Amino acid sequence: MIYDQWQQDVLAAEGNLAIRSGRQTGKSTVISKLASDYAKNNPKKLVMVIASTERQAYLLFEKILDYMFINYKEYLKKGKQYQTKTKLELKNGTKIYCLPTGLDGRGIRGFTVDLLIADEAAFIPRAVYNALTPSIATRIKTGARITSLTASQIKHLLHFIYLLRSVQGKIKIFWRLKKNVCLKCPTPKST
Ligand SMILES: Nc1ncnc2c1ncn2[C@@H]1O[C@H](COP(=O)(O)OP(=O)(O)OP(=O)(O)O)[C@@H](O)[C@H]1O
Ligand SMILES: [Mg+2]
Repeated sequence: MIYDQWQQDVLAAEGNLAIRSGRQTGKSTVISKLASDYAKNNPKKLVMVIASTERQAYLLFEKILDYMFINYKEYLKKGKQYQTKTKLELKNGTKIYCLPTGLDGRGIRGFTVDLLIADEAAFIPRAVYNALTPSIATRIKTGARITSLTASQIKHLLHFIYLLRSVQGKIKIFWRLKKNVCLKCPTPKST
């Protein structure tokens, strides 16, 4: 696949990203590659992909699975216990989880997260970000990243800002919103 320019920008960007892009423009596709590349290149990390519903989380997980199987199959641990409906383990010790948040994020507490990807972030309730803040804050110093994406603009950015502010109290955050990838993304056609 030849990635569109904005998708290439996302893949080349560093730090925290807020991606706003229209429906069916390839958000999940680019995130599948981003998550897979990160997992392959960074040992002993935890990638968490979250979405507000189980179906949404699983859709994205399927895309990541597809990408991994096509491109990095030799990096995957063999055995059914390493590839469940929500978890994928690599030989380098990195794990990718894909989980629905529900209304308050109860089911995603307890993880220490190195790369957090929030799909359709505008639909993830604020309480979930409260639950997640400690999970990501402990790893920000060692380069943890937050990537959130959505087709919906304002609400999404507010959530993202809120999440960054939550961890900023403890750790220095490089505020990348001004030169963020989302500014380059196509304007949403609809939400
Ligand atoms: N660079 C590309 N070139 C060709 N096809 C692409 C590209 N990026 C994505 N696609 C295709 O476009 C379709 C939509 O992609 P994807 O599901 O990633 O979009 P999305 O923005 O996440 O959609 P939604 O808003 O419904 O969540 C898929 O069929 C995908 O394979
Ligand atoms: Mg999508």
